[in-house]
Amino acid sequence: MALFTELKSVSALKAHFDDVKDLHMRDLFAQDPERFSKFSATACGLELDYSKNRITEKTKKLLLDLAREANVEEKRDGMFAGARINTSEDRAVLHTALRNQADNEVIVDGQDVMPEVRETLAKMKTFVEEVHNGTRTGYTGKPFTDVLAIGIGGSFLGPKIMTEALKPYQVDGLKVHFVANVDGAHIHDVLATLPVESTLILMSSKSFGTQETLKNTLTAKEWFLNNGGRFEDIAKHFMCVSSNIKAAVEFGMDENNIFPMWDWVGGRYSLWSAIGLPIALSLGFDNFEALLKGAYAMDEHFKSAPLEDNLPVLMATLGVWYINFFGAQSHVLLPYDHYLRGFPAYVQQLDMESNGKSATPQGDYLDYATGPVIWGGEGTNGQHAFHQLIHQGQVLIPADFILPLTSQHEMSNHHAMLASNCFGQTQALMQGKTAEQVKAELADKGLSDEAIEKVVPQKVFAGNKPSNTLLMDKLTPETLGQLIALYEHKVFVQGIIWGINSFDQWGVELGKVLGNDVLAKLEDTSIELDGDASTNALIERFRKRSL
Ligand code: F6P
Repeated sequence: MALFTELKSVSALKAHFDDVKDLHMRDLFAQDPERFSKFSATACGLELDYSKNRITEKTKKLLLDLAREANVEEKRDGMFAGARINTSEDRAVLHTALRNQADNEVIVDGQDVMPEVRETLAKMKTFVEEVHNGTRTGYTGKPFTDVLAIGIGGSFLGPKIMTEALKPYQVDGLKVHFVANVDGAHIHDVLATLPVESTLILMSSKSFGTQETLKNTLTAKEWFLNNGGRFEDIAKHFMCVSSNIKAAVEFGMDENNIFPMWDWVGGRYSLWSAIGLPIALSLGFDNFEALLKGAYAMDEHFKSAPLEDNLPVLMATLGVWYINFFGAQSHVLLPYDHYLRGFPAYVQQLDMESNGKSATPQGDYLDYATGPVIWGGEGTNGQHAFHQLIHQGQVLIPADFILPLTSQHEMSNHHAMLASNCFGQTQALMQGKTAEQVKAELADKGLSDEAIEKVVPQKVFAGNKPSNTLLMDKLTPETLGQLIALYEHKVFVQGIIWGINSFDQWGVELGKVLGNDVLAKLEDTSIELDGDASTNALIERFRKRSL
């Protein structure tokens, strides 16, 4: 497979870039009243307006040529069929099997994985219903009132952020709390609010080897035993989700309390598995199933829609256009929905842990950019803060605006105000404000020519800042499932185009190993400091801290 920079379509795009890089979207809109209908598409419950991008019809054609030349369609079909595309770990990539609603087989190592997936879903359903109807109780016989979910990375962000996003769907009587950080302040504060006899502790770790999660679980166990729980009560209160059953049992988990997951599910793609139990406990199993169904609908769209209308492919190729041709280094996500405020952090792990790579699976080092920095926050708050840089800064930051058209709560005209800000921002980014407009405005206010000349450059908006707008009727479990799957597939398509493996994460390993070495030196002052001068000095300073 040729490297990205060797593809014919990349050369064609380079030449085309020189032709179009100075076109202004303001002019493109003025020239073509059909621009919106040409550059918008729908999938399941999502509508994408990508007309406010620095593209022409030729750009779109060339970007889709790139997707075809990179074999996106063939590789996509391979992923769904269980090909071992995570080559450095020799694993299939089958988060899509977890939400598969059809009755086809999905074969890994000669075995259909679907019966085990369905069996686990059935086990989750029974468990969730027993907790909700009070047949599963704590050691005093009291129904559970609280769940403490412990996990980090993909074993935390998905469950936490989706539970938060679907707050209006949460069941009464059961509160789900999350702890991820090894900073003891987090678990300290959460445990202080929890009743021992009615708290269920759910530990999620695919590997069952993550330091933060193991430590927090041990702390929770200590808290349980020091506050009324007895050793023989542990099985009633502690559950876990892991693909490493052996380590979980060795840790002391009751084998009946372990929900399985599989090595063909990546951590950041795992909320569809039993890792999603906190979501199901918080929202009810029917809503968890609706989330799966929504994602499945997006899977079907991704598999079957022509590339011209394929939302993940369109968003992925537009990202490549800005990163590799315009030199954009970041991408901002702006959900105009308070409940979706955590979504940028979710996509941050999904995208940056997947595509932050420097080599191909064949061993070539890359000399082109891959994944962008993903960041963002809820609209409208950012408008009064970091939007300044997006509007007038010296870097190009493509943006995704996300807006549910219907609010979860009718609060007079709040929602129209929210939507007006969302649409107004995309308009301002696109059209900008010219020096002539600024001058006319200031002259109307009676400013002198001299005063006008001084201030014009500060008041000019260059515009031509690209954005996508994603709309949905309402934020529901289904539409949220579609939205997450859309970004998963966008990241997949970009990884294919860049020729990288989006499903390993070796970049997080070195820090873990060195961190363990440092921990030993912090805890045992007799260990000689044999590192670099900076790290030695920092360790020394910690050893001398005031206690
Ligand atoms: O350190 C990175 C990582 O491995 C992520 O990929 C993963 O989601 C997270 O840690 C948690 O891992 P685990 O579920 O194995 O505890």
